[in-house]
Amino acid sequence: RSIAFIGSECYPFVKTGGLGDVMYALPKALVKQNCDVKVILPRYKCIPWKYQEKMVYRGSFEMDLCADGRSFYVGIMEYVWDGVVYDFIDNEEFFSSGNPYTNLVDDIPKYCFFAKAALAALNYMDWIPNIIHCHDWQAALVPVYLRTLFETSKLASAKTILTIHNLRFQGVYNIPTIRYWSGLPDYVFNKDALKEGYQDANMMKGGLTYSNIITTVSNTYAWEIQTPYYGENLDAHLRYHSGKLRGIVNGIDYDIWNTATDDRLYVNYDITNVLEKKKENKRRLQEELGLVQDDHKFVIGLISRLTNQKGLDLINAIIPQIMDEHTQIVVLGTGDAMYEDSFRYYENAYKGNVCSNIMYDETRAHRIYAGADAFLVPSQFEPCGLTQLIAMHYGTVPIVRETGGLKDTVEPYNMYTNTGNGFTFDNYDAGLLLDAINRAKTLYFTNRWCWDEMVQRDMDKNFSWDNSAKQYKDLYLELTW
Ligand code: ADP
Ligand code: GLC
Repeated sequence: RSIAFIGSECYPFVKTGGLGDVMYALPKALVKQNCDVKVILPRYKCIPWKYQEKMVYRGSFEMDLCADGRSFYVGIMEYVWDGVVYDFIDNEEFFSSGNPYTNLVDDIPKYCFFAKAALAALNYMDWIPNIIHCHDWQAALVPVYLRTLFETSKLASAKTILTIHNLRFQGVYNIPTIRYWSGLPDYVFNKDALKEGYQDANMMKGGLTYSNIITTVSNTYAWEIQTPYYGENLDAHLRYHSGKLRGIVNGIDYDIWNTATDDRLYVNYDITNVLEKKKENKRRLQEELGLVQDDHKFVIGLISRLTNQKGLDLINAIIPQIMDEHTQIVVLGTGDAMYEDSFRYYENAYKGNVCSNIMYDETRAHRIYAGADAFLVPSQFEPCGLTQLIAMHYGTVPIVRETGGLKDTVEPYNMYTNTGNGFTFDNYDAGLLLDAINRAKTLYFTNRWCWDEMVQRDMDKNFSWDNSAKQYKDLYLELTW
């Protein structure tokens, strides 16, 4: 089967979150299962030069985009790596800012252009996939273009999948702007497709209507988004399309996330020596971050975009209650200024025991996953969440809210049967989060033997992409039967 992946970010070229991880790891896992995969991405200027210089020019053409026929240059730059072909859509006008995403004024035209150019590029290369697999709102117009402006092209034989990684972002803007930039026919701006409310167009909504299958990245999130609380105003639309909605949980890339070979770690380890080597990773982490060096401290890690989605308001509210003489907190993340500032404040207030790293840093992330004892993910909503998976795989016990993928991947600890993988709480409530943290601390300090067994159980759990890639492959086969 041949599959074209279309999305707005992909590790290691450009990544702002889990979407980037999935766009890298899933195609690679599918290639292992004998699929033929091309990944289509924007050629952002911010992609590091070491990748840019290896790209090979594959061709170029002019493409009509806007309602008034205004046309744009589309270049195709190709890079092949690990059996996956990456085709980067080149256009200086749209992709030259330092960040992939800026603001909707720029992003709406950018991703109208990208969606259409991705299809036009496939056509130009005469590479007709069986499946076109689109990711998030930035690629959501692809199924709409395919069933309208491309319906007489060879590509029209392809089936489309739209995967929702995060329903909060939908690409909503006024109809005249989206109609102008996309050049899509008027009839798609109706309330069953792109139209929302009185005057807005919603790119995600249109993609959901026109795709053959909708997936999201966990079963629980697939169910949650059909309810008003999690549905981000699209719950009714998703209920209407629930017949084609599935959940497939993400995995993690076992080549990148491997405690035995990870060269970013201070010391490597595996399940047989995790208990002693984790201590050493912890000590070295404390040293590097300027924390009090003490094996006996309970080190809590947090690696996250610092936004409300991730439960930062809960954490923020209870830091003084979490902090006692046995506890340290290590934060790594960027996001809302309010949270960045508050962690800087706490670092100062609890000198030597709180460390805020307000930055994006892959190496530091690996070291925190390995050096912390516990890991916080108290999200308000979490489509899948990769950080709890990585934490468990690194023998770090997650403390999570029971929502979306967190609920599907972290089995709550049961003190009577001594089973489970982490500590959980249900309602979005700071008191319940504090209670879960205290339960974790109690086990850690009073029953280390059970704690250590949980660490080993976590490392032993299978989070590789193999299972999930197989489910995607089955879905592709089902669609093209
Ligand atoms: P989301 O995509 O919603 O941000 P995920 O849990 O799916 O959440 O993925 C987050 C990814 O980004 C993980 O690979 C995590 O390690 C990484 N990450 C988040 N913040 C940082 C940071 N400040 N530095 C390094 N890696 C980060
Ligand atoms: C989104 C979600 C996250 C998920 C990731 C990859 O960014 O917020 O939960 O893990 O996409 O699917």
